[in-house]
Amino acid sequence: MKTAMGEDRYRRVLAEIRAALSGGDGLAATIGLLHDRLPHYSWVGFYRVVGEDLVLGPWRGPAPTAHVRIPIGEGICGAAAASGTTEIVGNVAGDARYVACFPSTRSEIVVPVRRRGRVIGELDVDSDRPAAFGRHDRALLEQVAALIAAAELPEVCVAAMSWLVDEWGRGSFPASDPPSRWAGRDIPAAARG
Ligand code: SME
Repeated sequence: MKTAMGEDRYRRVLAEIRAALSGGDGLAATIGLLHDRLPHYSWVGFYRVVGEDLVLGPWRGPAPTAHVRIPIGEGICGAAAASGTTEIVGNVAGDARYVACFPSTRSEIVVPVRRRGRVIGELDVDSDRPAAFGRHDRALLEQVAALIAAAELPEVCVAAMSWLVDEWGRGSFPASDPPSRWAGRDIPAAARG
């Protein structure tokens, strides 16, 4: 297992992720790169904010987690989502908030993904190594979070457009019903961004 990693390693990983996201490879590729390129990243997952919960999206690691839905405010994941700030826990056994996913986990970092000041998801990385995460990990993951926030925007636009087209097809927007009266329509979460 690697014990020290040069900054250049992190820079290369960031460059790879930037290329993957701008090439449209999306979140799953990003999660895979983080896991595969950084040996102390034992398990990597992305949780999306859905209502009052965090819902697991793409993940990479040796085993699935049972915690596919975590209420905001619970666990280290829920704490990071509630505060909107990065959580680094060097010894998970010593943190009362910790919700165990894998018996091998010793430390964890959770980095919120924010868009326009709102938490829309988070990156969760577990390590089998104690105190595995430091300033380079925080810097890398916070930059990746910013890239994800920017890359996810077009997906929201597409969802909003397809909702509008569907509604238009159903005749939901007659000329007699101006936009000022659309407020309160049941816009699906995916289209709200
Ligand atoms: N340990 C997290 C739960 C998620 S698993 O690590 C995948 C927590 O305390 O919130």
